[in-house]
Amino acid sequence: MNLTLSQYLHQHTNDPSLKELLQQLCHTCTMIAHAVSKGALSGVLGSTTHENVQGEVQKKLDVISNQMLLEGLEWTGTLSGMASEEMDEIYPISSSYQKGPYLLLFDPLDGSSNIDVNVSIGTIFSILKAPHHADHQAITEKDFLQKGREQIAAGYVIYGPQTMLVMTLGKGVVGFTLDRDTATWYLTVPEFKIPSTTKEFAINMSNMRHWEPNMRAYIEDCLAGETGPLKKNYNMRWIAAMVTDVHRILNRGGVFAYPWDAREPGKAGKLRLMYEANPMSFLVEQAGGKSITGKENILDIEPEKIHQRVPVILGSAQEVDCIQEYLNR
Ligand code: AHG
Ligand code: MN
Ligand code: MN
Repeated sequence: MNLTLSQYLHQHTNDPSLKELLQQLCHTCTMIAHAVSKGALSGVLGSTTHENVQGEVQKKLDVISNQMLLEGLEWTGTLSGMASEEMDEIYPISSSYQKGPYLLLFDPLDGSSNIDVNVSIGTIFSILKAPHHADHQAITEKDFLQKGREQIAAGYVIYGPQTMLVMTLGKGVVGFTLDRDTATWYLTVPEFKIPSTTKEFAINMSNMRHWEPNMRAYIEDCLAGETGPLKKNYNMRWIAAMVTDVHRILNRGGVFAYPWDAREPGKAGKLRLMYEANPMSFLVEQAGGKSITGKENILDIEPEKIHQRVPVILGSAQEVDCIQEYLNR
């Protein structure tokens, strides 16, 4: 019989706070999965009239899942604060609850544009140590600005044909499948290993004219196929939910890129360092892949702002190296 999530955590961490945090986080995600699967029947589809701090119109489910995560975790005594892609400010744990040794960062609903069209979406999370927890100091944004390498755990829950949890505690990447009848997570993938080579890329090609010339050159050479400089026939996939593209890459390899582009030159990229790039890069490195901006490894970036954006290129190690060579030209 497959291990349950509780059994797995019991075997792989001896920190009761971390165990409790991960259990409650995954429990909250089973409730998000339920809301997602009800769709129109529970009135969760469609948009709100609000824009988030990123200037994106929030979907109802962005707001609902954000609230579910706050309420599902603030009382647990495991956290000093939370930060979310959907909230302007950090969320310190209120004085009505006990504070704990961790910080939780999340993208409550990744792939928002997929919600209303019934395509896979997910929740991404990253767990850091709360630096001043022992001193009882008030938590500030600065406490969250830790490099990706400092993450204690990270992962995502994907709401697709199956609901799966993919997670790392810094010793490899494992996957659990939710048994929806009993609301139990079972270990179904004991180890994800990303093949080092690939013939598959994921990029939003409609932005091609805005990319740097060297990024364009790489994709043009992919499109040239077997007789071109890369000597391979490539396949392309783009799901518009990083969770789902990364899930495919963890399973069968590939590269995913959301590079810098000139549409908004002031912004370093589209994806958010703290809620998307760091947790996904931790998973990808732990599964033997690589994750870069084109200038540095994502996990080595010193964050400057909580909502900072970065270019992201990740996946099969040899292909990421190949893209880096193009970008160095
Ligand atoms: P979110 O729904 O959390 O805003 O994230 C969407 C992100 C990412 O998941 C996806 O890869 C990318 O944005 C899609 O962007 P385009 O719509 O520009 O293709
Ligand atoms: Mn996202
Ligand atoms: Mn989101």
